[in-house]
Amino acid sequence: MKFFVDTAEVDDIRELMETGLLDGVTTNPSLIAKSGRNFLDVVKEICAIVPGPVSAEVAATDLAGMIAEGEHLAGLAENVVVKLPLTWDGLKACRHMTSKGIKTNVTLCFSANQALLAAKAGATYISPFIGRLDDINLEGMQLIEDIRTIYDNYAYATEILAASIRGVNHVSQAAIAGADVATIPPEVIRKLVSHPLTDKGLAGFVADWKKTGQSIL
Ligand code: G3P
Repeated sequence: MKFFVDTAEVDDIRELMETGLLDGVTTNPSLIAKSGRNFLDVVKEICAIVPGPVSAEVAATDLAGMIAEGEHLAGLAENVVVKLPLTWDGLKACRHMTSKGIKTNVTLCFSANQALLAAKAGATYISPFIGRLDDINLEGMQLIEDIRTIYDNYAYATEILAASIRGVNHVSQAAIAGADVATIPPEVIRKLVSHPLTDKGLAGFVADWKKTGQSIL
């Protein structure tokens, strides 16, 4: 499963790139607002740091506006993926971008039918929002499983990008459910490596190694 980081904070992106485990980045208008940065500047900066796909979301909600903004965003860097909302106009804009060879991420997906439409519109990625479904007591992970089944039934190439991930269990569950990508907040990525038994076990090995009085080099 590919790991994208869900943030517009370039310092976090730089640090996580150093792990060698980061495959891409997703942003959204809320993350841009939180960063306090100019949208176009931050997208260009992220694209220069990360060679993989970088999702940048249109602000318009009408077809002509989404196409104009999407084409502008796609021109910022080769690795920009245009993020479009799951509406009829968003799907039409997706079909347009796909016909022009521009990669797309159809966002705000909350049902299997919406994901089916996005695949038919030629989306590169579909973003089902797990956490926001869990927030209203629905089973976010079930949606990932259902989309996986539908896409496999018809061999759709659209990649399932598990979004709105809130904790480490979402990451492993999305991988088990067959998501192609998970976009994960930086603080959740940092927690993925931790396990108390790893810390305890390592402390024991370090202490016992000291007792041997040996050195490897
Ligand atoms: O980028 C889309 C998604 O990951 C948003 O997550 O936590 O705002 O529901 P969240």
